[in-house]
Amino acid sequence: MSRHYKIGVIPGDGIGPEVVVEGIKVLEAISKVFNINFEFIYYPYGGEHYLKTKELLPDEAIEAFKGLNAIYFGAVGHLDVKPGILEQGILLRLRQALDQYINLRPVKLYPGIYCPIKDKNPEDIDFVVVRENTEGLYVGAGGFLKHGTKNEIAIQTSINTYKGIERCVRYAFEYCQKRNKAKKLTLCGKSNVLTYASGLWVRVFEKVANDYPNIETDYAHVDAICMWMIKNPEKFDVIVTDNMFGDIITDLGAILQGGLGVAAGGNVNPEGVSMFEPIGGSAPKYKDTGKANPLAAISAAQIMLQTLSEDKAAQAIEEGVIYAVGHLKSMSAGKMGYTTSEVGSLVAEYIQDKK
Ligand code: IPM
Ligand code: MN
Repeated sequence: MSRHYKIGVIPGDGIGPEVVVEGIKVLEAISKVFNINFEFIYYPYGGEHYLKTKELLPDEAIEAFKGLNAIYFGAVGHLDVKPGILEQGILLRLRQALDQYINLRPVKLYPGIYCPIKDKNPEDIDFVVVRENTEGLYVGAGGFLKHGTKNEIAIQTSINTYKGIERCVRYAFEYCQKRNKAKKLTLCGKSNVLTYASGLWVRVFEKVANDYPNIETDYAHVDAICMWMIKNPEKFDVIVTDNMFGDIITDLGAILQGGLGVAAGGNVNPEGVSMFEPIGGSAPKYKDTGKANPLAAISAAQIMLQTLSEDKAAQAIEEGVIYAVGHLKSMSAGKMGYTTSEVGSLVAEYIQDKK
């Protein structure tokens, strides 16, 4: 019997729709070869929809999403909408509403992709960042005093709860175990300055580590991690960190693996509905040009299948991506030597040929 998955699709803004089309093309190929049935349900949320209707993400949509197996997300960000409105009203709202408390971001250099660090090869760059995705500086706790005056004060507080840290750290240990590579988990914090917030992270990390005696643990400050990611990326297997640090270090990770055209991630609720996205954003200047690289969106579909425990299908997408990379002149938009659609077809054809 074929497995059936209901996938909500939010193509969103900018290049979102055109890269998502390529991801769907690849999933259709997977469907034929692996006997998996995908039902795609499309949602219009994003900048265009907001400008037309003033609606960001209605409560009914959130309720409907709870009945899905996963969400496949393109990008939000529109030149005519003030920065922050779509990000907070759609992307961050979804992460919170569906309690997607893990942001899973693999950093893996495929053969043939230009890496900006001289002398680093695919065997050196293969790690995963587990970013806490619902707490920290992202909860919007704070406010202004004396707003609009020269005496104005702005406060933004990082919220770190024992439970929130514990579930994230435990997920990271479990992920490290399942990944079965170096079996090493590095905690990234700033415990020399953020004595309260990072202090709690360190204590919880050490406590949870007792349950995983076969996993080597390590700690590094976030500034040092930035240095090590460039100097010795091979040092890392899995890194676990808070929301803000995770946001910053995963952009650095994205460039190590070839840039935003290839970097993908998942907003995971291990007990609920997860959402998968290319991490590059809407890149409005490449909208409708056929120049955008769809490999990040396609890799987001791969992480989605992995999270749905469709390991063989996920593996096929990864092989297809590696095959496509072998053809591309560059991972950058407009320099690939192929159009967006042609790159999607390369991956889809590779998968179909497996049949
Ligand atoms: C990301 C993005 C988002 C974040 C923005 C768009 C709110 O940068 O997914 O990394 O900061 O989490
Ligand atoms: Mn980011």
